[in-house]
Amino acid sequence: MRGIVLAGGSGTRLHPITLAVSKHLLPVSDKPMIYYPLATLMQAGIRDILIITTPHDRPQFERLLGDGAELGLRLSFAEQAAPNGLAEAFVIGEDFIGSDKVALVLGDNVFHGQALDETLALSTRDVDGCVLFGYRVPNPERFGVGETDLEGRLVSLEEKPVRPRSDRAITGLYLYDNRVVEVAKNLRPSVRGELEITDVNRWYLERGAARLVDLGEGVAWLDTGTPESLLKAGQYVRTMEELQKVRIACLEEIALRMGFITPDECLRLGRRMANSAYGRHVLSVATDEAFRRELVSV
Ligand code: G1P
Repeated sequence: MRGIVLAGGSGTRLHPITLAVSKHLLPVSDKPMIYYPLATLMQAGIRDILIITTPHDRPQFERLLGDGAELGLRLSFAEQAAPNGLAEAFVIGEDFIGSDKVALVLGDNVFHGQALDETLALSTRDVDGCVLFGYRVPNPERFGVGETDLEGRLVSLEEKPVRPRSDRAITGLYLYDNRVVEVAKNLRPSVRGELEITDVNRWYLERGAARLVDLGEGVAWLDTGTPESLLKAGQYVRTMEELQKVRIACLEEIALRMGFITPDECLRLGRRMANSAYGRHVLSVATDEAFRRELVSV
């Protein structure tokens, strides 16, 4: 399965912060926002990842992430010239997707929690149709909203409904079989002139091929598109990291844990950032893992 991080758009809800800097490069606590969606794809075992940015912001993303080889990834970059909608990602990414299945994650979505790894592993195993992830929120009118039957099949879907039929927001992580490329290519722009992800999902719903998996207990979902939610996400990350002694969306640690890189490679990455607490965390997970492997091999 291939992965796409959609990090385009002009971040107007965050003006003036985003007048000169891409929203997806803003800090969420101690790391750039895009680390979080990237971490989610990596946790799902995905190593071929396309990052879609605006033409203007692309060089900065390339400077931050390079070709991904150091993390054991194959990263490529593409541009979305104008905010033409989330579903355009599949049109832009057509060659990248090829004949594979694809996961799309929105560049401003933070997923975190103990239960996430297992949910991702189970959901990505054999995607036949589309898989969406729901999260109960107090303000569903701000999101895509879905309802399921008892088997978890999606039976209704609405984008930002005035009177939501449920409190299950559709989060910004979507899994699709290969048909998604053709579906996206045949979409017509909505009233607001965009290729809507909800229209893609409705295509699958109408064929009984859309599942909605609840990100229930043990998973947090935060969006970071407004000043309040950005601050809240940063506070969440900081609090969790401090109290649980973990580091959320530490890409080097995830790469090591997933077997994408060796402890030595991880150590080298940590040394470069040893002046920051993040870098020291990378160093310590690398040395701990090297030590553990030594013990096991004795
Ligand atoms: C988009 C989608 C919406 C989804 C949300 C998740 O909305 O259109 O269905 O619930 O992302 O973050 P946006 O936040 O781009 O308005």
